[in-house]
Amino acid sequence: MTASLSAPPAVGTLHGVGVGPGDPELLTLRAVRIIDDAPVIAYPATRQGESMALAIVDAFLRDDQEQLALPLMFSPAQTPDDPAYDRAADAIATHLDEGRSVAVLCQGDPLFHGSFIYLLARLGDRYPVDVTPGVSSIMASAAAIARPLAHGTETLTVVPATASDDRLRAVLTPAEVAVVMKVGRHLPRVARILAEVGLADGALCVTRVGYADERVRPLPEALTRPEGVPYFTLVLARRAAADARDARTAEGDAA
Ligand SMILES: C[S@@+](CC[C@H](N)C(=O)[O-])C[C@H]1O[C@@H](n2cnc3c(N)ncnc32)[C@H](O)[C@@H]1O
Repeated sequence: MTASLSAPPAVGTLHGVGVGPGDPELLTLRAVRIIDDAPVIAYPATRQGESMALAIVDAFLRDDQEQLALPLMFSPAQTPDDPAYDRAADAIATHLDEGRSVAVLCQGDPLFHGSFIYLLARLGDRYPVDVTPGVSSIMASAAAIARPLAHGTETLTVVPATASDDRLRAVLTPAEVAVVMKVGRHLPRVARILAEVGLADGALCVTRVGYADERVRPLPEALTRPEGVPYFTLVLARRAAADARDARTAEGDAA
């Protein structure tokens, strides 16, 4: 069937593309294909235009692709109704309206604490959407220390350090295995609460996993210089009982 001359131009597709935590080897084949096909590559950036997500895919970008910096990375305290998301969504919509698909690069996974979530909320009911999952920093951090995240009937608790003390205590008290994200300057608070709820022993701080300067440190070591703990850090903690259960499961598996 031929399109009528008066038909409006087809709109582009909004792609959320997970690019993994930092190491380009953790890009999926799908992410590489979507990036290669997209005429417009959008990426969260600082006000100075720096972007960790863009750096991850650098080897896969072409000169004929338009790059659209989205100045979204300026405050960890940014709320979902921040006008910066409105402006970013408008800039993306301009391309989509003209029929150009836009690949929005997202560090880790787009739908796990990703700013893509707030762009999706603004654009998802107006344009076709396609999401490519990415390797999350949680999975990459567990792999870096070769420690199980959860197995059997265990639960995995994930909480951002930006939560209040009461909220952290409430979710961490019953936790068996816990991941605390967005640590940065919150490290001393997080460490204190992990100790209170019995999760500090053996807890590890993973910083910039997948980058050349990746660091894995026991919590007490990271605490000796908390001002040196960047935002791109998470804490992995396992309750001692969970470790004992691991050992039993391993024995059972071996029997
Ligand atoms: C806004 S969240 C983004 C999470 C991301 N969408 C994901 O799937 O990993 C940012 C937090 O993720 C964690 N994070 C992201 N990349 C990391 C990395 N390369 N190394 C350690 N932690 C990382 C840190 O806790 C950081 O504060």
